[in-house]
Amino acid sequence: MKRVALLISGGGSNMVRLVEDMQAGGYGLPVLVGSNDPQAGGLIKARDLGVPTYSVDHKPFGKDRAAFEAEMLRPLLAAEPDVVCLAGYMRVLTPAFVDHFKGRMLNIHPSLLPKYPGLHTHARALEAGDSEAGCSVHEVTAILDDGPILGQARVPVLAGDSADDLALRVLIQEHRLYPAVLRRFLSGERGRLDLLA
Ligand code: GAR
Repeated sequence: MKRVALLISGGGSNMVRLVEDMQAGGYGLPVLVGSNDPQAGGLIKARDLGVPTYSVDHKPFGKDRAAFEAEMLRPLLAAEPDVVCLAGYMRVLTPAFVDHFKGRMLNIHPSLLPKYPGLHTHARALEAGDSEAGCSVHEVTAILDDGPILGQARVPVLAGDSADDLALRVLIQEHRLYPAVLRRFLSGERGRLDLLA
């Protein structure tokens, strides 16, 4: 079975969905959950699901991204993942890190890429007056929030939406999209998946 490692920075709701779906569907083996934040709420959830965890606090490394990544990389490589899923992992990756997992690292981003790479995606969609928003799962390359899109899910923007309203509506779709894309990816399918709310 394909071995899957997951990286998180926060609550880890996408990670939980992925782990639960792999465990229920038996199509992938969650081998490790890692975080740049030892306090990330998702770490406890992962352990409760029986998945080993580790964390490397990025703060003491300051601007030394390479030194931080060397520490992140060691347990990750030791777990021998076939695929790495970024699930709310909020550190920018160096090309050297990405290179280790070329063509086998996925990310979920809360916008309809190529729109709004980076942060504050929902506020930016509202500011632009967009009538729809959504999320994307893509292969990770050295360029932030770039790389081939494997799937997208769309939601309408409703009158009076705040950024938080929109974030919640999109997150519900993230939880549908990411497991569906991972399942296809692990089975070798590379076609793009489009989900409507
Ligand atoms: C999700 O909305 C994810 O798309 C976003 O962070 C949230 C994490 O939530 N990721 C990014 O913005 C990456 N650039 P979660 O920890 O509950 O899965």
